[in-house]
Amino acid sequence: MKPEPRFWAVIPAAGVGSRMRADRPKQYLPLAGRTVIEQTLDIFLRHPRIAGVVVAVSHDDAYFPSLCPTADKPLKVVDGGAERCHSVLNALRGLKALAQPDDWVLVHDAARPCLSDEDLEGLIQALGDDPVGGILATPVRDTKKRATPDGRIAATVDRSDLWRAFTPQMFRLDALAGALEKALNDGFMVTDEASALEHAGQSPRLVEGSAENIKITRPEDLRLAEFYLAERKRASTTRNET
Ligand code: CTP
Ligand code: MG
Repeated sequence: MKPEPRFWAVIPAAGVGSRMRADRPKQYLPLAGRTVIEQTLDIFLRHPRIAGVVVAVSHDDAYFPSLCPTADKPLKVVDGGAERCHSVLNALRGLKALAQPDDWVLVHDAARPCLSDEDLEGLIQALGDDPVGGILATPVRDTKKRATPDGRIAATVDRSDLWRAFTPQMFRLDALAGALEKALNDGFMVTDEASALEHAGQSPRLVEGSAENIKITRPEDLRLAEFYLAERKRASTTRNET
């Protein structure tokens, strides 16, 4: 009998965080008593459904070695690449030594430390039997405008079928690596894993998740993430006391 597919996490963390304008890449900035990347890694290292984690860091990264993530499962570190998609592909190649071709991979930005256990579990539940896989996302809420080159409104865009794409993005290991390789060979601009699968003719599922799963991009995002994590800590302390 074929073994049940396992679930692995791939964390791209090789960016420089230019929009954050800090003295170090944003994944190494402090957040709720630890660094951003430690908060993110902890979500997957704690989660019982995740078999192991591969993290891609820049080849000249001076910060990662000083972290001490606690892990009772494999935690592999590989070199990142020029763009996020190259970092992800390198991590997938590193994962091939640990995983089966049909195992699921959840690719999640190091810069998204507010992913909740509920959303991670919800994604795995929703997609475990899916032929393609899919992503966490949330419907667009604000009215959308298309702009003219001189900054005026050209049109109001129908937002009823528009979603904001988040991570994790969950696909089978071989299918995802193949789709990324094909997209890069074709010179297709890969913005996220789903776009590589779309380029290969697939239609990944949208799984609705919380809008709190923000990507830390600019300084104000760090304050918001701090607030969300503090709120959650308060809620879980209250639950444990009652
Ligand atoms: N990333 C990566 N390899 C790259 C570029 C980005 O692994 N060559 C990672 C980042 O570390 C981050 C995630 O991909 O966890 C999302 O990218 P983004 O938010 O754009 O981060 P940065 O590229 O670091 O930020 P910026 O675009 O502002 O420079
Ligand atoms: Mg970037």
